[in-house]
Amino acid sequence: MTTTDWSRWHDAYARPGSGLGDRLAAVRALIDRRLDATAPDPVRVVSACAGDGRDLLGVLAGRADAGRVTALLVERDAGLAARAREAAKELPARVDVQQADAAQSDVYTGAVPADLVLLCGIFGNVSDDDVRATVEAAPQLCAPGAEVIWTRHRHDPDLTPSIRGWFTAAGFEEVAFVAPDADQCRWASTASPPTPAPSSPAATGSRSLGEAADAAMLGACDSPSTSSPRR
Ligand SMILES: C[S@@+](CC[C@H](N)C(=O)[O-])C[C@H]1O[C@@H](n2cnc3c(N)ncnc32)[C@H](O)[C@@H]1O
Repeated sequence: MTTTDWSRWHDAYARPGSGLGDRLAAVRALIDRRLDATAPDPVRVVSACAGDGRDLLGVLAGRADAGRVTALLVERDAGLAARAREAAKELPARVDVQQADAAQSDVYTGAVPADLVLLCGIFGNVSDDDVRATVEAAPQLCAPGAEVIWTRHRHDPDLTPSIRGWFTAAGFEEVAFVAPDADQCRWASTASPPTPAPSSPAATGSRSLGEAADAAMLGACDSPSTSSPRR
């Protein structure tokens, strides 16, 4: 089985033409917009498979109101988690970086329900069934009115129409879909559940996101990957 070097994967952010830079800009813009929309209230953010956290942390570094943000970043790679902690150190936001398996729902205890959930760089690395299971479990991480920002490449066969449908079926309302013409491979979207999540772990005391979600997240980002970033 091929093992992806996720630290090296992040190098592509700086590589012109990789598309990851554009994707990062799109995700940051969506995060910024969400923070604007929720100001001046406190905001709780959860990022699964967070990498070095540059999407959220980059936004927070540029905001005078970062102090109202509490964030949990879950990242399994020790080096990337350390980089995220280092980047978060100077921020007024309360950022907890857990070097942990994002599939283990216990790690989210105390951080959910969140107002903003980042599922970036996950859906291109798991099976279609696991993407669907993760989407269906997403409401369990969300506070009422929360937004989820997710990414997925659009290589053939493009799964994004299905994913958008799965979010709708799970009770989300799409508020943005970014798919630049100039780059057919990257996009980001946010969706907001208009009604309270039926069984958030924080509300119910449940320790599980559900077996399906756990299975999906266990596979998240573990799958063999090419050296060409697709997310
Ligand atoms: C494609 S990268 C995305 C990173 C980041 N979200 C971004 O968009 O830049 C996937 C990340 O998930 C992490 N990862 C893989 N499996 C994981 C797991 N089971 N639990 C937590 N993190 C995981 C990898 O170490 C890697 O940093």
